[in-house]
Amino acid sequence: MIKIENVNLIYDIGKETETYALKNIDLNIRENKFYGILGPSGSGKSSLLYILSGLKKPSSGKALYNGDDLNKIKNKELSIIRSNDFGFVFQRHFLLDYLTSLQNVLVPLNSNRNEDINRAMSLLKDLGLEKEMNKMPFQMSGGQRQRVAIARALINKPKVIFADEITASLDHKNAFEVMKILKKYKKETTIIVVTHDESILEGVDEIINIWDGSIIEDKKKLVNSCSK
Ligand SMILES: Nc1ncnc2c1ncn2[C@@H]1O[C@H](COP(=O)(O)OP(=O)(O)O)[C@@H](O)[C@H]1O
Ligand SMILES: [Mg+2]
Repeated sequence: MIKIENVNLIYDIGKETETYALKNIDLNIRENKFYGILGPSGSGKSSLLYILSGLKKPSSGKALYNGDDLNKIKNKELSIIRSNDFGFVFQRHFLLDYLTSLQNVLVPLNSNRNEDINRAMSLLKDLGLEKEMNKMPFQMSGGQRQRVAIARALINKPKVIFADEITASLDHKNAFEVMKILKKYKKETTIIVVTHDESILEGVDEIINIWDGSIIEDKKKLVNSCSK
C-alpha cells in the first residue's frame, strides 16, 4: 500500500550543513502488518516516516500510496489522505491541555455525534482508560497520556498508524503495555513504529534496520564489514 522507490532525502542542499538523511531507500509497506523501523539516533528513522506519510518530499525518488505518487498529489488532497487514512503518534503526546481525554480523542473528528462519542469511549475503554475518560492530561501518567494519543490516532479508523519513538519517555513496563495495545490493532490497520529500542519490537512482523540513512539487511553483516 505504501511503496518508496530509490528515495534520497538531503537536508540543507548546498549549505555547509548539508546532510544526506536517506540514501537509495526502497521499501514496500503492506496492509495489516506491524513494522518496526529500528536504528540509532540520527540514522534517518523520522525522516523515513515523514517520507512514508507524505509529510516531506524526497529529494529524488518516489513515494507511492496505493499507486498514487504522494509528491504529485495536490496539497489539499494530501491533507485529506492524511486526515482520513493516516494516524500519527509522536514521542510527545501533543494532547490539548485544556481538554479531557475523551474530548482529546474526538479532536480529529471535530464531532459531537453520539456514535462518535461512543466510539471514542469504547477505544478509551479498550486501551484501559475507562476511569480516565474525564481526566485532563495533567491528571494522568505518561503511559496513560500516550494511550490517549493512540486512541486519538485510531478514532477515524486510519489505514496506517505512524508512531515515532512513542515509548521513549516511558518506563519499560509502560512501553511494553503501549506496544501490546498497538499490536491488537494490526487487524484493522497497518502500524509503523519507529524506535531506537530493539526490545520493544518483540513479535512485530518485520523489522527494518536503518543505519546512517540506508536500510541494511543484516546488522551482523554490517558490523563485520565495519570491523574489516
Ligand atoms: N530539518 C532538518 N534539517 C537539517 N538536518 C536534519 C533535519 N532533520 C534531520 N536532520 C538530520 O538528518 C539526519 C537524520 O535525522 P532523523 O531522521 O531525525 O534521524 P532519527 O529519527 O533516526 O534520529 C540527522 O543527521 C539529522 O541531523
Ligand atoms: Mg527521530
